[in-house]
Amino acid sequence: MNAAATVTHNYPAQRTLRLLAPRARTRIAVVLGSGWGGLTTHVQNPIRIPYADLEGFPHATVAGHCGELWLSHIGGQEVAVLSGRQHGYETGAVDAMKTPLRVLQALGCDTLVQTNAAGSLRTDMPPHSLMVLDDHINLPQRSPLINETGSARFVSMVDAYDPALRSQAIGIAAAHGVALHTGVYAWAFGPQFETPAEIRMLARLGADAVGMSTVPETILARHAGMRVLALSLITNMGAGLSTEQLSHAHTLSQAQASSEAASGLLAAIIGGITLCKTETNT
Ligand code: HPA
Repeated sequence: MNAAATVTHNYPAQRTLRLLAPRARTRIAVVLGSGWGGLTTHVQNPIRIPYADLEGFPHATVAGHCGELWLSHIGGQEVAVLSGRQHGYETGAVDAMKTPLRVLQALGCDTLVQTNAAGSLRTDMPPHSLMVLDDHINLPQRSPLINETGSARFVSMVDAYDPALRSQAIGIAAAHGVALHTGVYAWAFGPQFETPAEIRMLARLGADAVGMSTVPETILARHAGMRVLALSLITNMGAGLSTEQLSHAHTLSQAQASSEAASGLLAAIIGGITLCKTETNT
């Protein structure tokens, strides 16, 4: 059982949010990765706040990541949608989402729903497939918890992706006629794509998909005692597994083609999951 970090922070961004959205309450933080931006069409009357107005929130530098916080409801659930994240490959730092996640936790979020675009390592999971993460491989072995103190930093990563949320997501997908694969996500630091030899290695290590995000935020969320659900939109086969030329433009165009279906399912999942307080031991 994790001794989760207690929410005692008082970030300037919390004060800004109290001023801009005094009545906002949120339970679910949602991080939108490439291809998942269509979720914003499912958000009812959002309060939209640019990251630039929130101290400690990152500057979005990657095409396809807009850098806004949306506070609202999806399917009756109170959500805070982080439209854009900062990746490790942008600056070398892997803790850029620490302040946003802690601010949202202070606002009431106890569940984190993450989304990303990923390359597939499995022939039965071609582009446009969806995968729910049941584990990850932190290939760079980097942690956003460096400089944390106290015993809470020694966070267990067993069941880092909440089994109950995962099975609810699979059930909701099945009810919508969508096959949701389950698999292990390998975090590659990027920004370069992998070599074919690296892809073969990752497959042998037990990874099902590879991408450049998600893992640092999962570690931060587990440290904070939040439950995590994470979904990958498969945009390509891993390098060397097909003849397609990998590029960011290719990732975005493939993601765009699946965006409506993926986002519709995500909205249904957010609306349908059962929330409960994460059990904490102090
Ligand atoms: N590798 C790493 N990250 C990715 C990929 C990939 O093949 N596709 C989308 N994001």
